[in-house]
Amino acid sequence: MPASKTEHSKSAPRADRDTNFLSVTDERTGATYQIAISEGAVRATDLHQIRLSDRDNGLLSYDPSFANTASCRSAITFIDGDRGILRYRGYPIEELAASKTFLEVAYLLIHGNLPSKTQLAEWLHNITFHTMLHENVQKFMDGFHHDAHPMGMLVSTLAALSTFYPDAKNISDEHTRYQQTYRLIAKVPTVAAFAHRHSVGMPYIHPSNDLSYTENFLAMMYRPSWTTQYTPDPILAKALDTLFVLHADHEQNCSSNAMRAVGSSHADPYSCAAAAAAALYGPLHGGANEQVVRMLMEIGTKEHVPNLIRQVKEGKRLLMGFGHRIYKNYDPRARLIQQLAEEVFAVTGRNPLIDVALALEKVALSDDYFISRKLYPNVDFYSGIIYQAMGFPLDMFPVLFAIPRMAGWLAQWIEMVQDPEQKIARPRQVYIGPPERHLEISGVKVPVRKPSRTIDTRPKTVA
Ligand code: CMC
Repeated sequence: MPASKTEHSKSAPRADRDTNFLSVTDERTGATYQIAISEGAVRATDLHQIRLSDRDNGLLSYDPSFANTASCRSAITFIDGDRGILRYRGYPIEELAASKTFLEVAYLLIHGNLPSKTQLAEWLHNITFHTMLHENVQKFMDGFHHDAHPMGMLVSTLAALSTFYPDAKNISDEHTRYQQTYRLIAKVPTVAAFAHRHSVGMPYIHPSNDLSYTENFLAMMYRPSWTTQYTPDPILAKALDTLFVLHADHEQNCSSNAMRAVGSSHADPYSCAAAAAAALYGPLHGGANEQVVRMLMEIGTKEHVPNLIRQVKEGKRLLMGFGHRIYKNYDPRARLIQQLAEEVFAVTGRNPLIDVALALEKVALSDDYFISRKLYPNVDFYSGIIYQAMGFPLDMFPVLFAIPRMAGWLAQWIEMVQDPEQKIARPRQVYIGPPERHLEISGVKVPVRKPSRTIDTRPKTVA
């Protein structure tokens, strides 16, 4: 939008409904600029026109950690953090969790609509028949140390899968993209279960095509051997499926952002998914569910809750499973998981850590430290307690987050690849290092070649 120099006057914000631009006055020059507002956002590149002179590089927006920057326009997931609302493709998470399976929801995220009967049958067939891993993947996994964290094994194995499917590089071909989507959603539970079996030194159990997605995963995790029968508990398989629905996508979180950022260089989706899983591994993101249970075990009993709260308020540690960049209200997923816990405990027996968690939540939600910062339980606060009751080892918890999130990562990746506005993700920086300086060799100043002409330093194509 063209800049026009006008007198600057500071006035109260106008509630002018027809105004769809921001009027910005640069106090350094007195120039006023009109920056278009569209869909509640201004384009950061529109700030580029605001400059002191022709030699100035133009104004940047500085936003470490993308606290207030939209990196894409997306039609997948909607969150209203103030009202605690989460929707996939417009459907409230509560409705999906109550009546749809994880694979139906995965289809919804990837295709935009719930599947018809025929589409679902085809989708289930495609996922079911891609669950096997190449035998060499098994050999590759054998190389990990016995106490390797399963999340590390998952990250590495996802990256290794790209070498098994070189066709995946052809990201502009729609058929190839969907082929990798089936493979990744189908194989991630197999990789996850193999990582667990490797850790505990048990034989790998191959997928069973006659089982549902979560039944098959439970069988690969817990079936003692091929010669021993194992029937996954239907209530636990259903509860896990619901947990997978709740974890399937969460718009531009750290791992989805990694998926998109790596994908923006046109890397294959296995490499992108490995990067996304690596981002999820961190304790501030998907690794939090493991840390919550470690923290609850450390607290031990309700009586020790005030001590932990004191440490948090003194800034000595974080209350894991609390707080969220977007939710400034109760995370709707945490509420649903808390309800699910009782269904699981009816089968597994009550995990006593739930009482510590409930006591901790009660104290935190009535304490001004948490109230004033709008810190509420997030998805990770109760999920680990259920996973533990189901018999999953603690270090598998982030892996249990990664399995369903694969659907979200792929939906985000497909959307990004098809978005004509998306280019290679390449943020700018505010340089704060030393100004130009020169080497001195043995007391002699290295001659500096002066540029023969004025170089236009303004960015044009930034790679
Ligand atoms: N315990 C204690 N204080 C906290 C916590 C917490 N869990 N989370 C935020 N705060 C404080 C923080 O210290 C800051 O205080 P002050 O204003 O005095 O400096 C204030 O609240 C604002 O926090 P922030 O660090 O600016 O918030 P953020 O949006 O950058 O971080 C978060 C979000 C999730 C990383 C953070 O809340 C956190 O570390 N939580 C614990 C880890 C966790 O549970 N992660 C799972 C997130 S949900 C699953 C997922 O999608 O990844």
